[in-house]
Amino acid sequence: MCGIVGYVGTTGGAAAVDVVLDGLSSLEYRGYDSAGLAVPTPSLAVHKAQGELAALEGIVPRGDLAGSLTGIGHTRWSTHGAPSDVNAHPHTDEAGRVAVVHNGIIENYQRLRDDLAEAGVVFRSETDTEVVPHLIRRYLDRGVSPEAAFRRAIDQLEGSYAIAAVFEGSETVYAARQDSPLVVGFGETGTYLASDVPAFIEHTDRVCYLENGDVVRLTADGAVVTDSAGNPVDRPTETVAWDPEDAEKSGYDHYMLKEIHEQPTALRQCLRGRIDDLEGTVTLEDINGLDHDGPVQFVACGTSYHAALFGAERLRRNGMAAQAFLASEYTTDRIPVDAETLVVGVTQSGETADTLRALREAARTGATTLAVTNTVGSSAARECDHALYIRAGPEIGVAATKTFASQQLTLALLAAKLVDSSNRTALEALRDIPGQVQTVLDTSDARAVAEEFVDADGFFFIGRGYHYPVALEGALKMKEITYRHAEGFAAGELKHGPLALVTEDTPVFAVVTGDGEGARKTIGNVAEVAAREAPIVAVTDGGSDVTRYTDYVLEIPTTDDFTGSVLAATQLQLVSYWLANRLGRSIDKPRNLAKCVTVE
Ligand code: AGP
Ligand code: GLU
Repeated sequence: MCGIVGYVGTTGGAAAVDVVLDGLSSLEYRGYDSAGLAVPTPSLAVHKAQGELAALEGIVPRGDLAGSLTGIGHTRWSTHGAPSDVNAHPHTDEAGRVAVVHNGIIENYQRLRDDLAEAGVVFRSETDTEVVPHLIRRYLDRGVSPEAAFRRAIDQLEGSYAIAAVFEGSETVYAARQDSPLVVGFGETGTYLASDVPAFIEHTDRVCYLENGDVVRLTADGAVVTDSAGNPVDRPTETVAWDPEDAEKSGYDHYMLKEIHEQPTALRQCLRGRIDDLEGTVTLEDINGLDHDGPVQFVACGTSYHAALFGAERLRRNGMAAQAFLASEYTTDRIPVDAETLVVGVTQSGETADTLRALREAARTGATTLAVTNTVGSSAARECDHALYIRAGPEIGVAATKTFASQQLTLALLAAKLVDSSNRTALEALRDIPGQVQTVLDTSDARAVAEEFVDADGFFFIGRGYHYPVALEGALKMKEITYRHAEGFAAGELKHGPLALVTEDTPVFAVVTGDGEGARKTIGNVAEVAAREAPIVAVTDGGSDVTRYTDYVLEIPTTDDFTGSVLAATQLQLVSYWLANRLGRSIDKPRNLAKCVTVE
């Protein structure tokens, strides 16, 4: 999920170690938890370190490696195994003949690992990646060429990967791509490989994007791309018009916007290997050992609390007793919790002090604890009895976006696992979400709607059922990045007080999907604000006649309520983003806020 760099230089070209380290530093914006590199000549040297790139730079003996013109490097965002020196990439086979870096997730790694272990291979790391060098070595031992060994190993992998490998003594880099980007760059003094163009844009703007199933052989004079069967394929060479400065955010003005647009990818990653279509079941390998049918309590803060509200609602609708608590309000002397309770901490960072305290307090009562987090190796993941990863990839913007969507989806998967339902329709609906979010991103009118409200200084968001947490989240995003006043309400609550504040100057965003009872009641509440002449924006799938009362519409595809909530959240993220952008706010680092709040 993070970064790969590869390089083969022509004689007299720059040392690989320098090109690789520079490339990794140009990919730093992607976020990572450890880094490493390998050069294969004259003998294979591998260096890796947990933490910032500076930690790796501190241990790499540049002088000793200066003679090598070939190298690969990696920044890791852990998915399997905590961030540590051992788990950092590159990984090698036992004899040190091949070194491999990998971005993504190898779904069938456990089976491959078991087979290899049975054949006597001793694994050093906890990663899914380490199966790859051992597989390659198995084929090398059978006497096949490095390229054939690489291909045969890749053939056995299921999942998402960008993989690069170097072989001892060889000035060649091999790479393969499946659902994780890789791009080749053609320079004057060498050939480059990276997961993103900024890694080598200072050397060349002539690039060739690999496609799924492609395998590439990089040498100093160029690259040969083949399909998985080994047939040559023609991938066009393009000239990228990227300014290295813009490239950091992949062309987006802000990380927040980039991360909103990364949601389809993040959601696919979240689902990967977790739904069995044939059986209609959910498998969550991370929490295989967890079986629970007692009460469930969620603890979380901010956006993660809104996701927790979804989780609790989803479980309740499946017949389980579930509640969500603000972590800062959770104390076991007031809230009944015991060894029969499962306490789920929802936390993107895994380091939020309020959430950690609540989890620790719950653990002392004998409750089972589960961390639902984006950060492998975080305090929450380490301290809880179980950890379930949302796999959103690093989120840099302070305002949570893609991690919220991934939390929603992960909690729906968790609910399916806990109630042991084989509800194929519900699972198919989850599977469709990434594509539907993409549709929203492609068609959203949020920017134009935001433009209508540049002068408004107070916003209301309303919804019921699954749409109530979306209303809260819509308001939180608005507050955080536009600094305008905003509140989210359960639609039915407006008339119990907040309606007093509604005037023709209070835009109201109403989330309404389908035409069920919930939709009909929310439309009644919309009529109440329409009567006060408030400007109203419907976020709707067109399932009802809510637009009769509304001035603007943000459309989402027709789906069930749960999916509708994920899609509506995307629309509301975009409205806040475009308004904040118009107001010139510091979008990625809003005033007074931090990405991770480690105080209570
Ligand atoms: C969301 O936009 C905020 N940055 C904030 O509310 C955040 O969700 C909260 O601090 C919890 O963080 P966590 O998920 O890392 O625990
Ligand atoms: N799944 C691999 C790991 O956990 C690669 C993660 C990445 O994409 O950085 O090590």
